Amino acid sequence: MENIIKLQSVFFNYGEFRAIDDISLDIGQGVYGLLGPNGAGKTTLLKIFLGFLTPNSGSGSVLGLNITSARKAVRRKIGYMPENECLIPGMDGVTLTAYLGELSGMPKQEAMKRAHEVLYYVGLEESRYRKVDTYSAGMKQRLKLAQALVHDPRLLLLDEPTSGMDPRGRKEMLELIKDISRKESMDVIICSHLLPDIEYTCKQVIIMNRGKIAAHRAIEGISEDKFNRFDLKLKGDVSAFLKQLKSIKCEVDITDRGVYKIRLPADESPQNLFKVALKNNVQIRHFEQCKTTLEDTFVNAVGVNNGH
Ligand SMILES: Nc1ncnc2c1ncn2[C@@H]1O[C@H](COP(=O)(O)OP(=O)(O)O)[C@@H](O)[C@H]1O
Ligand SMILES: [Mg+2]
Repeated sequence: MENIIKLQSVFFNYGEFRAIDDISLDIGQGVYGLLGPNGAGKTTLLKIFLGFLTPNSGSGSVLGLNITSARKAVRRKIGYMPENECLIPGMDGVTLTAYLGELSGMPKQEAMKRAHEVLYYVGLEESRYRKVDTYSAGMKQRLKLAQALVHDPRLLLLDEPTSGMDPRGRKEMLELIKDISRKESMDVIICSHLLPDIEYTCKQVIIMNRGKIAAHRAIEGISEDKFNRFDLKLKGDVSAFLKQLKSIKCEVDITDRGVYKIRLPADESPQNLFKVALKNNVQIRHFEQCKTTLEDTFVNAVGVNNGH
């Protein structure tokens, strides 16, 4: 499988502040989510992919092109939907989209033709001659998506694509992204702090926190892990019980609420928990099977003290 993005030990500082802290990364084909709380470094990382920011150290390539020496060639192959507004006041939707297409290297006429097509695709057909300053927040997001698609890029980078949208608009944006990602000729990376958006649109998730990669997982399979999870409440001499659990390769986390979070290998029967308890005179007062969700992975990866 082709590598879309490869980074090796990349560091990036804004002045004294280290925003990207030793990131090595391999992104393959398909739809990837870059998930993390605000300030994690997602936007900074996208700007490094685009060659807008140069790493202080480390190296990398996007679509086989070096991120520092081949920036121009990289950018032609990337469609970028920025987080912040990139719209030029006073221009109408179709003129702006065509203009940005030309900036990506398209001939004038072709850019105009494609501008009409992509605006139709994102649902702005009727508003395409209106000045972009009069667009609602949701329409601006759609226009930002249209301009990212106009030159038919090989790789699409979407930064907080549903930002500022109402629930209906958000759903429609996610459907559009899903539709785009069905195209085999275009790979997609979506940055978001919204877990449901990533869960809905992506196949793989990379969780970022404080400038580092905290986890990299397939979204499918998160709930069908190699472990089964149980929450237990116990009474009795717990320490011997816990010790013996380790011998059946169980992992145990103790929470402050007195709940023991058990990860039991999938090939071990949950009955064994009861057997071990009985042997050690421990009563299992509460027994609940838990599902692992992307949320668990996210919370584990970024820690609970992060506002999430
Ligand atoms: N231009 C800048 N100057 C200084 N610090 C910045 C700048 N841009 C971002 N940062 C800081 O870098 C960190 C990562 O920011 P960013 O990449 O925007 O995170 P995210 O997109 O995950 O919210 C944040 O702590 C942010 O305050
Ligand atoms: Mg951001």
